[in-house]
Amino acid sequence: MKLKFSVLAIACFTFVACEQPTTKEAAKSNKAQGENSFVDSVLASLSVEEKIGQMTQLTLDMLVVGPAYVAEEPHTIDPARMDTVFNQLHVGSILNCAGHSYSREKWLDFHRSIKQYTDSSRSEIPVLYGIDAIHGVTYTDESTLFPQQIALACSWDTAMAKRMGAITAYETRASGIRWNFSPVLDIARDPRWPRFWETFGEDVLLVSEMGESIIDGYQGDEIGDDHVAACLKHFLGYSQALSGKDRTQAWIPERQLREYFLPQFEQAIDAGAMTIMINSGEMNGIPVHVNKTILTDLLRTELGFEGLVVTDWEDIKYLVSRHKVAATYKDAIEMSINAGIDMSMVPVDYDFPVLLKELVDEGRISEDRLDLSVRRILQVKYDLGLFGHEVPTVEDYPDFASDAHKATALEAAKESLVLLRNEDVLPLSRNQKLLIAGPNADDLNALNGGWTRTWQGDDASLNTPGKFGVFGQLQQEGVAVELWAGNANGLSSKAKGKDAVVLVVGEKPYTETPGDIESLDLPKDQLDLIEAAGELNTPVILIVVEGRPRTFNLPDQVDAVMLAMLPGDFGAEAISAVLFGEHNPSGRLPFTYPRYASSHATYDHKHTDLISPTFGTDAFNPLFQFGAGLSYSEYEYSNLTLSSDTLSLDDELELKVTVSNVSEISGKETVQVYVTDLVATITPSVKRLRAFQKVEIEGGENVELTFTISMSDLAFVNESLDWETEPGEFNVQINNQTASFWIK
Ligand code: NOJ
Repeated sequence: MKLKFSVLAIACFTFVACEQPTTKEAAKSNKAQGENSFVDSVLASLSVEEKIGQMTQLTLDMLVVGPAYVAEEPHTIDPARMDTVFNQLHVGSILNCAGHSYSREKWLDFHRSIKQYTDSSRSEIPVLYGIDAIHGVTYTDESTLFPQQIALACSWDTAMAKRMGAITAYETRASGIRWNFSPVLDIARDPRWPRFWETFGEDVLLVSEMGESIIDGYQGDEIGDDHVAACLKHFLGYSQALSGKDRTQAWIPERQLREYFLPQFEQAIDAGAMTIMINSGEMNGIPVHVNKTILTDLLRTELGFEGLVVTDWEDIKYLVSRHKVAATYKDAIEMSINAGIDMSMVPVDYDFPVLLKELVDEGRISEDRLDLSVRRILQVKYDLGLFGHEVPTVEDYPDFASDAHKATALEAAKESLVLLRNEDVLPLSRNQKLLIAGPNADDLNALNGGWTRTWQGDDASLNTPGKFGVFGQLQQEGVAVELWAGNANGLSSKAKGKDAVVLVVGEKPYTETPGDIESLDLPKDQLDLIEAAGELNTPVILIVVEGRPRTFNLPDQVDAVMLAMLPGDFGAEAISAVLFGEHNPSGRLPFTYPRYASSHATYDHKHTDLISPTFGTDAFNPLFQFGAGLSYSEYEYSNLTLSSDTLSLDDELELKVTVSNVSEISGKETVQVYVTDLVATITPSVKRLRAFQKVEIEGGENVELTFTISMSDLAFVNESLDWETEPGEFNVQINNQTASFWIK
């Protein structure tokens, strides 16, 4: 999907001119002149202060009564603050909530109050409101909560990503908001990173395809009443800190940056993504917020991005207080704006616009530079139909949290579960007696993860009514299940008389810096529980609910392992459906699950990563492989054929393979095509995922699948930083089917 800015803008322009009272004179007089003249005329009418206001984004905390971060309950608009923010500072963008979710009615009230101020301002420019609706519109009470990105990636289902994006966009619009700070296109190649779960995993192709699909859902072909602007995060190189901790230094050579970190952003920009948020961290010693090479040369000149660039939270100030590249806030503003920032997510002070005005007065930032950014901001507002908009009513969005939306979220949750071991224990039967234990046995917040009704997602009082953790769900369903909150010592006596033990371990919700850890191992009490479970005579099903692959020793005696990577509000229903065989699991790992805390390599590692201390080639030994996942069906692969075994550089290769469901149970199989470049001037990976397809196959049926791979899909970034496919021999691997071909 490529959002055509020009076509869209013309369509909106007609609407603006006919129906929108705001700046209507300018709109009318410019109607004949084409799509940009409206934006140009608004821009031309603005004072320097008003332009600077457009570049300023504050948090809702700055509009309500009480200090930032601890607003007085119930959160109420403060007229004095509104006057400062809109009448004196002309602020053009607001974000987030002041700490927790609100009802839709309350959201719409906030928007009406804001609109009153902007409508009566001189410029009448509407506010662009942004929010982190990262797995559904998380800050609106009772919205439909989907799996988090990493769980969605476990489905390998791009169509589902689009459906989730579309429903999230609808419910975000139903909350009066048109800008979503999503998706995260950072690549998760280090499991220590606390935002691992906000990504689509470790592989460039999977991240790129899921990313484009969800953006397609958010933005549609053209922005209509049900769409929002996507915001690609976090440009660029955020996920690979040396320490594994949030917002700490990354060293990423440009060759690797271009091969692993950039392609997904490029694909999303080509797909029409309207906005981008910048990485808060530093890369190679330079905070990205002041890196003109990244923000202007790469993003604007090379990738041709024309949309809006917003900072992350307080990141201009952090150039002084954390990064120490600027002595004063004013210097930091100068550096970042001149590097290419359009809008500052300030978001909790009133100094940014004042200091930026001083910089313009002193000639340190030109008015032309302001115009460049303000034009982009106004264009996004225009493309989103904000000029002259009405705040919707609750009735305008009757499908908010509808049964259909919930059914899709449940389907997504089911598809996100990954069954990694099953020694003839699953599915269980509904009349078995179960013991359920472990710290996540009855925790809905753990299933949802961060950014759920609050930033950290840890306030159970705000959870969706009628939604449960695993124990609560099983109880609702009438299963004979006992909950046990004890430690490893008591497990075996508690398990007596039970038909199976379901042990639910993992992580509690977190995001960003509060999610930093000192060891990838699960906490000791959980490691002990898993060990104790391995000694039971009763069948054990281990369910791991977590946002990153935490390491643990997996005893052979644990009969089944299911991974639930933050499946969301419907996670417990989905888990129950898999436990009792009412849903046939189809999730596959979008990352490599390490066996040991200090030994991690991604699936597309290099051959040198294989060398073990005894000089064998078995050093890559993860607990579970990228792409792994079991089903209640059984599949067999056969008849891999290639259209040719000798190709030239501009050819396409057609691959055919037959997949048979040799069981009686219908299921979904994700067919993964890996290619190995046997010899190359840049050390080749042992394999790279080059195509995938998820297919449903009835019990006893076969399907023949066709994949087309261009030789340019096999390129790598060479020493001169160009993409290149080198002639030579390549191997193809699809499950147990292999073949080879030559590029001559
Ligand atoms: C900080 C986070 O890094 C970013 O992902 C988020 O969108 C912004 N804050 C706004 O909440």
